[in-house]
Amino acid sequence: MLFSVAALLVGASFAAAQASFTDLVGTWSSKSNSTFTGPGFYDPVNEKFTEPKHTGISYSFSQDGHFEESYYRAIANPTRPNCPKGIMQWQHGSFKKLDNGSLLLEPIKVDGRQLYSDPCTYGNAIYTRYNTTELFKGYEVLKDGYTGKQRLNLYKYDGSPLMPLYMAYTPPQMLPTTTLNPLTTATAGAKATSKVKRSDLPLDVNVLSKRTPQQKQADRWWWFGVFLTASGGALYYFF
Ligand SMILES: *[C@@H]1O[C@H](CO)[C@@H](O)[C@H](O)[C@H]1NC(C)=O
Ligand SMILES: *[C@@H]1O[C@H](CO)[C@@H](O)[C@H](O)[C@H]1NC(C)=O
Ligand SMILES: *[C@@H]1O[C@H](CO)[C@@H](O)[C@H](O)[C@H]1NC(C)=O
Repeated sequence: MLFSVAALLVGASFAAAQASFTDLVGTWSSKSNSTFTGPGFYDPVNEKFTEPKHTGISYSFSQDGHFEESYYRAIANPTRPNCPKGIMQWQHGSFKKLDNGSLLLEPIKVDGRQLYSDPCTYGNAIYTRYNTTELFKGYEVLKDGYTGKQRLNLYKYDGSPLMPLYMAYTPPQMLPTTTLNPLTTATAGAKATSKVKRSDLPLDVNVLSKRTPQQKQADRWWWFGVFLTASGGALYYFF
């Protein structure tokens, strides 16, 4: 009797762990719904990123504990608003749910890639290896009241929320979950390494400079400042 109760409890908690995983499974994407994980973002064979139509981020989680993430972000450049910097990042690996409800994402370190674009400083974009372990303090999956779509809220290590993500594909759209670009295979090693650090075409400034209303307001004041400076100069010359 005692044994069967214990067996039942173990069975129940196992089922609970499985169920709490299932809600994460799929490809999630931020509101612009144009940045996704999978081969459309990063091509590991040709070591190449494809720029999405809009900036955004995406996470995928598989039933068997693998994750993949894609980031395409503009980086604020307040001193030179017409010279937006941008970054593309991709990595994959395994994830687990900790006993306290946090999510730990551990990448395959040799596989992650980054393209950093700052055309006014460097001209070309810089393509390098990239890896970062991520801890999300917690998460919730709910039905968005406005769009009616499945929505994933991830909370960063400090408790602040990441931008909301919406279900885009299920089953998830992911590259193979094994190591894609091993550092040293006897034959391909040298070639693979030489491809990783290189310069590349800069990211599209028109996409990166699509600004939020707050940023637009800041820009207006910047132009207003330019105008005052210019007319001040004109006054100086006239009188
Ligand atoms: C992972 O990232 C860290 C920090 O940027 C770096 O020092 C390390 O070399 C990276 N590992 C690999 C295998 O690229
Ligand atoms: C859960 O444990 C991890 C590792 O010890 C810790 O970093 C994280 O902050 C904890 N999460 C919560 C919600 O306390
Ligand atoms: C996002 O795009 C995918 C693929 O085009 C589509 O299946 C999905 O419904 C879209 N999601 C939202 C929230 O619009």
